[in-house]
Amino acid sequence: QGAEGGGTLPYTAINPVPRTKDVVTVPKGYAQDVIIRWGDPLFAQSPEFEIENQTAAAQELQFGYNCDFLAVQADDETGLTGVLVSNHEYTNENIMFSPEFMEQNPEEVANIGLAAHGLSVVELKRKAKGAKWEYVRGGARNRRITGMTEFTVDGPAAGHEMMKTVEDPTGTKILGTLGNCAGGFTPWGTVLSGEENFDGYFNGPVENDEAQERIGFANEPTSRGWEKYHPRFDLRNEGYENEGNRFGWIVEIDPEDPTSTPVKHTMLGRFKHEAGTAVVADNGKVVVYSGDDQRHDYLYKFVSEGTYIEGDKKHNMSLLSKGTLYVAKFHGDSPAGQIDGKGTLPADGRFDGWGEWLPVTSDKKSFVPGFSVAEALINPRLAADKIGATKLDRPEDVETNPVNGRVYMALTNNKERVEVDEVNPVVGNRDGHVVEMEEWDNDHTAEKFIWNILIMAGDPKKSSSVYFQGYPAAKVSPISCPDNLAFDSMGNLWVSTDGAPGTIGYGDALHKVILQGPDRGRVAQFLSVPRDAECCGPVIHDQDNTVFVNVQHPGEDGEWGAQTSLWPDHLPASGAVQVGDKVAAPRPSVVQAWLTKNQ
Ligand code: FEO
Ligand code: CA
Ligand code: CA
Ligand code: CA
Repeated sequence: QGAEGGGTLPYTAINPVPRTKDVVTVPKGYAQDVIIRWGDPLFAQSPEFEIENQTAAAQELQFGYNCDFLAVQADDETGLTGVLVSNHEYTNENIMFSPEFMEQNPEEVANIGLAAHGLSVVELKRKAKGAKWEYVRGGARNRRITGMTEFTVDGPAAGHEMMKTVEDPTGTKILGTLGNCAGGFTPWGTVLSGEENFDGYFNGPVENDEAQERIGFANEPTSRGWEKYHPRFDLRNEGYENEGNRFGWIVEIDPEDPTSTPVKHTMLGRFKHEAGTAVVADNGKVVVYSGDDQRHDYLYKFVSEGTYIEGDKKHNMSLLSKGTLYVAKFHGDSPAGQIDGKGTLPADGRFDGWGEWLPVTSDKKSFVPGFSVAEALINPRLAADKIGATKLDRPEDVETNPVNGRVYMALTNNKERVEVDEVNPVVGNRDGHVVEMEEWDNDHTAEKFIWNILIMAGDPKKSSSVYFQGYPAAKVSPISCPDNLAFDSMGNLWVSTDGAPGTIGYGDALHKVILQGPDRGRVAQFLSVPRDAECCGPVIHDQDNTVFVNVQHPGEDGEWGAQTSLWPDHLPASGAVQVGDKVAAPRPSVVQAWLTKNQ
């Protein structure tokens, strides 16, 4: 039994780590190392990574930047081979390249950026179960998907007028996936990935365009300037007005087939998808929960029309094209006057209540007056505004617990929260919270649910609004800005964070939260990531004594020549430094932490 609530991953909580520490910190008795990092060659013919001579052609054959979602799967019981899927959410050009390089090669820098986005599929091998995985250069399934890879489109909005451009008059062929944040592994072995902050890639007209404004497209040059070299990134260009409608979807890729064409699923709606994880309900329908990560935006769920057939991948891959898209409305059970905005518990001792899933549209019929099916899918935010969905404190990851069947939603923070309600009970919510939901009769296709706030995050020493199910606050690890969620085999919740350095002053982290028994609500920190990095991933293989995280944007607050992180290349000093013939910069990476024998 582990010191932190059982399972096969015993550890004693680490102390929170100062935000300036440029290392990965793991509990006593654990080792950690990088599996793969930005620029590592994926194929036999991939060039070695040379930061000063990087090219788009090289980047297309190397691991991309800013890994966020992570899946790791062993191929079989022996557990000696496997596959890793990671996405590459965005790029930080100011710490990837010197100012001189960017000035001399602006078009190449744009194309390197496009090539550093998307996803990577990488084969793994190891010598024994519980040992460290290594990536296989030239693995048969290795693949890069980038901002230029062709996707097909399915679902009711495929081929719609609003999806067509001069380059794609069919409205069914889209180049690239961008802003891919969290995601999920499906029961049929594919990966879903959410296109999140896609607006930032486009210079686009927002005057008098309610839909464009609601997404956040700005009528100004983008920071990366891709529109200078690729006209599709300027929505003012004739024929490209709809290019922005072709992003903001859940995409599905098949990591087992490197020749397959990835798909954008319009039936799951277009918004800033944080993630998408498919679960098979008791009646066989497939349900995907997905948060729209913006302040005051919504939680959605999709319920398939067809049902899952074990072993029939082709059939199962068609399930996300037909069904119904819902949006959540939360009702508190305590009088509004008892929610004081400071996090004080209402008289019944819980922030809790019931909720309903409001239908937005099916593949055949829109349920929102004034919206066709395709319009409701392309602009579900506008449709959901009309039917009174609940505006949440930035819904990040939403995941279903395979042990207790409940659904967990990370609300990361919302400094603009003014009007409170029972599910968003804190004004200016700085540290965020996690909501636990239970579908009616534990049926994922239900149209009603009950919910409670599992934890109100914060540092108990610095914040008065913390809540941990009544577990003594003095005994929990400080936690802030919950983002990605995962579960271990015992059904414990694991939460990684994005933003703790700017709130409670510690490095972003991975925590375990006990859900069952007398320790329910106990938060125990497992790991801390390097300076300015966000802790993503996470993947918990507790029966293999292993945890994986993606270290995203280390050194993000630095500049070339004044790097705040040089992780993980272990080169001395700060700033972009020359060591021998090598220039160093931080490199987003996949990390494995594992229990060592001599604990
Ligand atoms: Fe990419 Fe909502 O975090
Ligand atoms: Ca209540
Ligand atoms: Ca996220
Ligand atoms: Ca985030």
